[in-house]
Amino acid sequence: MAAVRELIDKLNTDKTLSKEEWLTVFGGWTDEDRAYAAELARKISQSVFGKKIYIRGIVEFSNVCKNDCLYCGIRCSNKNAQRYRLTDEEILLCCDEGYDYGFRTFVLQSGEDYKAYPPERMADIVRRIKKAHPDCAVTLSLGELERDALLLLKEAGADRYLLRHETANKEHYGKLHPESMSFEHRMNCLKTLKELGYQTGAGIMVGSPYQTNECLADDMLFLADFKPHMIGIGPFLPHKDTPFRDEPAGSYELTLFLLSLCRIMLPRVLLPATTALGTIRPDGREQGVLSGANVIMPNLSPTAVRKKYMLYDGKICTEDSTDACKSCVQARMKRIGYEVEISRGDYK
Ligand code: SAM
Ligand code: FES
Repeated sequence: MAAVRELIDKLNTDKTLSKEEWLTVFGGWTDEDRAYAAELARKISQSVFGKKIYIRGIVEFSNVCKNDCLYCGIRCSNKNAQRYRLTDEEILLCCDEGYDYGFRTFVLQSGEDYKAYPPERMADIVRRIKKAHPDCAVTLSLGELERDALLLLKEAGADRYLLRHETANKEHYGKLHPESMSFEHRMNCLKTLKELGYQTGAGIMVGSPYQTNECLADDMLFLADFKPHMIGIGPFLPHKDTPFRDEPAGSYELTLFLLSLCRIMLPRVLLPATTALGTIRPDGREQGVLSGANVIMPNLSPTAVRKKYMLYDGKICTEDSTDACKSCVQARMKRIGYEVEISRGDYK
């Protein structure tokens, strides 16, 4: 048996590999290895979740951001981005609409827009959503915040927090972000989230500029150690108004392979087949599920603003209504023999 497949088996048994072993995996995998990992990951996912897919409705409530991440279409120095902010009422209406369509988790995501949405305002929004829909989970994805703000939001009822670490390699982090941003601060924020009792999500972009196999090995070692409850993994896709406009997109196949490896390593992790995966390939999300993913996050944002939350070129689902997205996802899952589940879908 090839070395990579032996290591996939070892990962399945030990739930971790050494850095050298990860380097062997990333340096030498073939399509057959990927298919082997996908089959194993799919079996694990089905044994934990059955053939059920959790859906989360994502409300992209502001594209204003104080940060200038080099890869991101809503970075502050992109003067071509048309900025918008939703009112509290508009955010609540998105959730009400989502509830009627069967969503039981709402993900509130934005740029780092703390001037307009300070923690007190966000806490109030969380409280209002939880009051209107006590059977729902609220996930926040607001960027880096200090412990007191995260505590306030937790006490207001927020259940989960998504904060991709982006890369576990400090040198790589420095090539993706301006000097004003700190690798340590992001990593500490993730630790704080876990300490405060959030179901916590980390994650990376696959094929971000300057990413090497060593970076990927560092990511897998970090994930094995940190054991997040959720992992967001999608391909890097260039945006025309960023310094990375001419960089190639991340590999579709490597993204699927990484999803499988994450599922094998952390069998119960909540693992979305991301919008970026559906953007790089029309059936990307289906293939993500068949590679071990168990979550899909359709868009609940008002159609009028969707095109403005353009993190990368070509983002899908920017023309569709919530109803259309929900039905589309349902049909896509049905076609591959899976079913969308109406529940909070907590980490267990
Ligand atoms: N501001 C929050 C934060 O920093 O976590 C949430 C919003 S941020 C835009 C959400 C995620 O989008 C980032 O963590 C990043 O991984 C992803 N993203 C940004 N630009 C991207 C690109 N060009 N291609 C793929 N994913 C991208
Ligand atoms: Fe939005 Fe398919 S999920 S149109």
